[in-house]
Amino acid sequence: MPPIVPPTLENIEQAAQALRTGQLVAFPTETVFGLGADATDPAAVAAIYAAKGRPAHNPLIVHVASWGMADNIGTIEGPIRALAQRVWPGPLTIVVPLKPTAAIARNALAGHRTVAIRWPRNETAQKLIKAVGRPIVAPSANRSGHVSATTAAHVAADLGTAVAVILDDIIDTFDTSDAMQVTASSIGPVVGVESTIVAQRDDGGLTLLRSGAVTCEKICELTGVSPQDRTTETAAAPTAPGQLESHYAPSAQVRLNVSKPEPGDAFLAFGPDAPATAWPTHNLSPSGDLHEAARELYAALRKLDATGVATIAVMPIPDHGIGRAINDRLRRAAAPRPGSKA
Ligand code: TXA
Ligand code: MG
Repeated sequence: MPPIVPPTLENIEQAAQALRTGQLVAFPTETVFGLGADATDPAAVAAIYAAKGRPAHNPLIVHVASWGMADNIGTIEGPIRALAQRVWPGPLTIVVPLKPTAAIARNALAGHRTVAIRWPRNETAQKLIKAVGRPIVAPSANRSGHVSATTAAHVAADLGTAVAVILDDIIDTFDTSDAMQVTASSIGPVVGVESTIVAQRDDGGLTLLRSGAVTCEKICELTGVSPQDRTTETAAAPTAPGQLESHYAPSAQVRLNVSKPEPGDAFLAFGPDAPATAWPTHNLSPSGDLHEAARELYAALRKLDATGVATIAVMPIPDHGIGRAINDRLRRAAAPRPGSKA
């Protein structure tokens, strides 16, 4: 197992040194744990694809810790710049034209002329990127297609010794000196599901590619632009990265919109009206709080999966606010898996 260490300055400096020498480091962000590599090093980027078993056609997000770093990588103008200015550092990834001069290993981009950029809010993540002094590519720190990781133990279970070190921290620490207080308070400091992905279109409009804590309504409110919503589209291949149909999947099958589980099911419940069952059950939020449910989602899926059940039955979850992101992840967890006959 890789060492799991607290985010002291010394440990962050050692992790930064590991990144500079081409190794992989897992670190917390306010959404999920990331598996980091030096974005300028093609061999380190290749190691990420190998460690995750990630298809080469699925590009990575480049993580930065300043506007200077972001502006060296992509052309960020108009409404998408306005949006990032309001949310960064925070749970937002923007897809913009790549600057030809950007020092980003091209195998991180999977052949695209656009680049996904994110400035995470978690304090450890920010300190690590600043210590390396280079952008860091970081997919979620799980095996490709599997449930994402929200604890260091999840990362260790999925990736083992492919990671040099795991910086451990609760995901909700954030550097308030940089955060836009207004936006931060309305999004909430802890997220638990991956960042919202918004792409800049050639016609100047915005496209929402992945739902997250920054909702469609929020984007409209912050920019005055109503994004085209492509989050429900699915694709098996490269034309629409980020929209792989089967994703976030536990070993058990996942069945959605179940009000009453059957014998042998595990039950992922939500809210005060959840029926009592004799089967393994996890209520994502007994009080019906969608933000709490988002924070609990991946740990709950992993916990229920570990009981060895064949099926995890999921109660209906309200489809508004961050509930949309929760339902998106659950739909993909329930989708037919590659290689399955279903
Ligand atoms: O919250 C997050 O974003 C986490 C933390 C670690 O920062 N990272 C994360 O990375 O979720 P990953 O690799 O699991 O998801 C990245 C998504 C993929 O679905 C990928 O297809 C999409 O971003 N993506 C990357 N570059 C893209 C591009 N140029 N155009 C469209 N989608 C892109
Ligand atoms: Mg992922």
